[in-house]
Amino acid sequence: MKVAIIGSGYVGLTTGVCLSYVGHEVTCVDVDPRRVETLKSGAVPFHEPYLAEMMRSVKLQYTSDYSQAIPEAEVIFIAVGTPSRPDGSPNLEYLESAARSIGENLGKEYAVVVNKSTVPIGSGNWVESIVRDAFRKKNNGQPENFAVASNPEFLREGSAIHDSLFPDRVVIGADQRHALERLYSLYRPLLDQSFTAPPFLQRPDGFGAVPLISADLASAELIKYAANAFLALKISYINEIGQLAQRVGADVQLVARGMGLDARIGTRFLQAGIGWGGSCFGKDTAALVSTAAEYHLEMPIVQAARRINSRQRELVVERLLGAMKLLKGKTVGLLGLAFKPNTDDLRDAPALDIARRLIERGARVRAHDPVAVELAQRQHPDLAVTWCSTPEEAAEEVDALVLVTDWPEYRELDWTVLASRMRNPLVLDGRHFLDAEKLTALGFQYLAV
Ligand code: NAD
Ligand code: UGA
Repeated sequence: MKVAIIGSGYVGLTTGVCLSYVGHEVTCVDVDPRRVETLKSGAVPFHEPYLAEMMRSVKLQYTSDYSQAIPEAEVIFIAVGTPSRPDGSPNLEYLESAARSIGENLGKEYAVVVNKSTVPIGSGNWVESIVRDAFRKKNNGQPENFAVASNPEFLREGSAIHDSLFPDRVVIGADQRHALERLYSLYRPLLDQSFTAPPFLQRPDGFGAVPLISADLASAELIKYAANAFLALKISYINEIGQLAQRVGADVQLVARGMGLDARIGTRFLQAGIGWGGSCFGKDTAALVSTAAEYHLEMPIVQAARRINSRQRELVVERLLGAMKLLKGKTVGLLGLAFKPNTDDLRDAPALDIARRLIERGARVRAHDPVAVELAQRQHPDLAVTWCSTPEEAAEEVDALVLVTDWPEYRELDWTVLASRMRNPLVLDGRHFLDAEKLTALGFQYLAV
């Protein structure tokens, strides 16, 4: 099938390579000409495991010209960003612009325009009206031949290819049967798992056919927000329990395991610590609250999850203050900048927020990340952080080290070497990730969030 994908970010590019891998003819469109040039040269514009290998194993077209992709496309995915506005509502300007450009370039054959971006409930109808208006304006009022569908994306950064090839489920939503049928055909190889898994990414043991949820537009759109908000509140819930655990002297990790082994609860997403960051949970919980407000509905559970998450970041500062008594003039080293391991994404990264809070209180901050240091430096030139290319450099003369991102390589650190660099052997583990016993035996004061 001929597929056009608008937006070559984490979602668009991953979707493009995976659909191409299972046999479709894919063209990726992005308005950023530098990004298109990077992609044409075979490079990946961000850090995502296996994406480069996948790009090398398929034939994708990259362009910033809609007219090269849209007229022939049978399915057109919109995968542009929908970031938060300051009031929490999603900024839909990229979506609007993409929909207009699609309408202006739509061909005569039936096409399905699919919202893969995370968009507020009702956006499907809104996109449809923009595409229709743009088409009619360009073609002097001739009737158009398209439908709009929703196909929310559930991939996680850092395991985007795995999640796309081996998804837990595929959700499609449309109010026209024909549109649903086309999406079903498109996804058939993934649903049936009839493709050979790439040599570098084996199919999980026992992985079978993928469940398909075929829904109306509004339900598909709500499924996405409801799923993200639930994952976010699961994390905030364990962090709330964690605060109590600390006060009563309980071990939150044991509590999480004891709870999670109840199959109705599940062990995943109960990792207590600094809390969630990234481009999704913050913005999507804010969008859900803001959409509900339009219907005069409060969402106290989702709001509480957001408050707890913000509190976890402040807790880092409080715990350091408690241990050091003073932050002014002290130096703190941060291990990890990306919002989670295996990505260089710094959107709503807790490390940057924590750095800002520490600097505001008069501390100096040094920071290391295995892949995101240069990007952090470029994106945040005003942040007065000493950017370090090794963990040892980040430990130089510090009064405390904070483990912010649970990168696997931080498990392999030589703590004797780090101790010799530090002014004071204090470690605050923001992810319950380090070996507390080992660190204590080495003479560190070990604290956990
Ligand atoms: P991103 O910022 O990485 O990429 C968006 C791309 O769209 C950029 O390359 C940008 O240049 C391009 N773009 C913007 N306007 C355009 C236009 N008019 N025409 C063509 N290209 C345009 O975004 P992302 O992280 O891939 O997220 C995309 C959407 O998917 C968001 O709504 C997000 O919430 C959702 N989502 C993201 C993830 C994730 O893990 N990142 C997972 C599921 C869903
Ligand atoms: C999340 C969802 O997991 C995806 O299903 C969804 O598609 C995506 O948002 C989206 O809509 O964009 P992502 O943000 O890439 O994916 O990363 P996660 O693995 O969910 O982690 C989010 C944050 O939660 C990270 O900062 C991570 O450190 C934190 N986290 C995660 C915890 O603090 N505890 C946990 O137990 C799990």
